[in-house]
Amino acid sequence: MNPFQSIYELIGEDQIRLLARYFYLEVAQNQALKKLYPEDLAPAERRLFLFLLQVFGGPQTYLEERGHPRLRMRHLDWKIDPSIRDHWLNAMLKALDKLNPEQNAKEMMMGYFIKAANHMINHE
Ligand code: HEM
Repeated sequence: MNPFQSIYELIGEDQIRLLARYFYLEVAQNQALKKLYPEDLAPAERRLFLFLLQVFGGPQTYLEERGHPRLRMRHLDWKIDPSIRDHWLNAMLKALDKLNPEQNAKEMMMGYFIKAANHMINHE
């Protein structure tokens, strides 16, 4: 079990759904990010929600619907440099502040997102 898998138990499904909602509200307001995403953000929001549900120790619906995440590979379609990483991370941290889960869960989630966002960089 990875250390992030206790998050689902700590905050529950509704909070994770809300985090994905808040994240995409940020994306919609950020031109640098928005132009990378499809016009209709709702399906992307659902994919992120199901992915996070799984990573944080909840149901594996993402795996059933989308297969193995292989996230870095799935992101090779976009040029992800440190600047766009900052936009993404900033949007996620704002979403997390808005959600404001209990401190222990929040710190774990911040740690996870920083690590995952760095891992997604595929361009100088
Ligand atoms: C670092 C900068 C990042 C950028 C610019 C970026 C951008 C994108 C874009 C444009 C999509 C396509 C939207 C869609 O149709 O689903 C996407 C998909 C996705 N991203 Fe990211 N992303 C980044 C980092 C991350 C991180 C750190 C995570 C995980 C914590 C993540 C999780 C996902 C997931 C789960 C999908 C849907 C994959 C699928 O099932 O097809 N992304 N991302």
